Amino acid sequence: MWHRQRQFRRPSLKSPGKALLATDALRYGRPVSSRLAEARLLTEALRERATRAERPRTPEPMVMDDEVSVAAFHVAHPIYQLPAYRLNAEAMSRLLPEEGVVLDLGSGSAQLLAHLARARPDIRAIGTDLAESMLETGRGLLRDSGLVDRVELRSADMTELPPDLPDRVDLVSTSWALHHLPTREHLARCLDQIARVRELTGCAVWIFDFARLRRDATMRAVIDLAKDPPQRLREDGLASLRAAWSESEIREAMAQAGLTDLRGGRERIIGFLQAYHAPARQGRPSGHTAHWAPSPLPRESKQMLRGIRVGLPNLPV
Ligand SMILES: C[S@@+](CC[C@H](N)C(=O)[O-])C[C@H]1O[C@@H](n2cnc3c(N)ncnc32)[C@H](O)[C@@H]1O
Repeated sequence: MWHRQRQFRRPSLKSPGKALLATDALRYGRPVSSRLAEARLLTEALRERATRAERPRTPEPMVMDDEVSVAAFHVAHPIYQLPAYRLNAEAMSRLLPEEGVVLDLGSGSAQLLAHLARARPDIRAIGTDLAESMLETGRGLLRDSGLVDRVELRSADMTELPPDLPDRVDLVSTSWALHHLPTREHLARCLDQIARVRELTGCAVWIFDFARLRRDATMRAVIDLAKDPPQRLREDGLASLRAAWSESEIREAMAQAGLTDLRGGRERIIGFLQAYHAPARQGRPSGHTAHWAPSPLPRESKQMLRGIRVGLPNLPV
């Protein structure tokens, strides 16, 4: 089962509230019960598979500096973000040697880096973003979490990193940020930067993002998996899905940047995510087994995580 947030029972006449919920669930675009949401998503996913024509991309603003959007995104929603943070953090942990250093591009409010740093107490991270409000929110989170000594946020453009890179980088990563880049040229420049960091340091690579679906109905069905999400998070989530690069666009851009040996691909059940990775060249042993100590996830996040893990091919092991 992809995700089950709460058991959905057939409404009885003795329960007008549930009957109302069931009626509400049939109205398109409203929050629906999780079973109905799952069923609808799987139906839309089947229709998605039968659809051949690519949906044109609708770019969204590159820098995510709107305060309401930043606040909505920073919540780390148990359905939308937490499962992906855990998946990303675990994959990155497997690619990181003991006491390794991550350079993360488009790190937003540092929720992912904080999640990773808490679960891997031996590593350090440098996150980069261009949005001042994201950087400020992230610095607050790191202060409150006691992580300022190990995670640092810098203002930098992921399509044009400063010439002086950190002395040591064991993993260059980007998560949920490529879809913010306005044009294919920006995407190409960002992947060139990732290739440059890899070339100079021999580091591992982790790339994670949405993948563009072909139908708006499938995108809405993905967003409707969460019951009653904050309105802005819902709107921004849909905008991000519409701005996502297709698998072929990402693969073409990776190939042009010389990133030809990355493993991974598109999530195979719904098709709304994609992830690619390569190990470090020097092959220092991963510190994952010795140091990975994640905190427990809420039940609904675990279920969602299982679905994503099953769908994404060739994750780092
Ligand atoms: C949706 S957020 C993802 C944040 C984080 N990686 C996560 O997974 O929680 C995408 C971030 O990429 C940032 N971004 C977009 N274009 C950028 C650029 N050219 N350079 C640096 N950051 C950029 C945005 O400002 C935003 O904070």
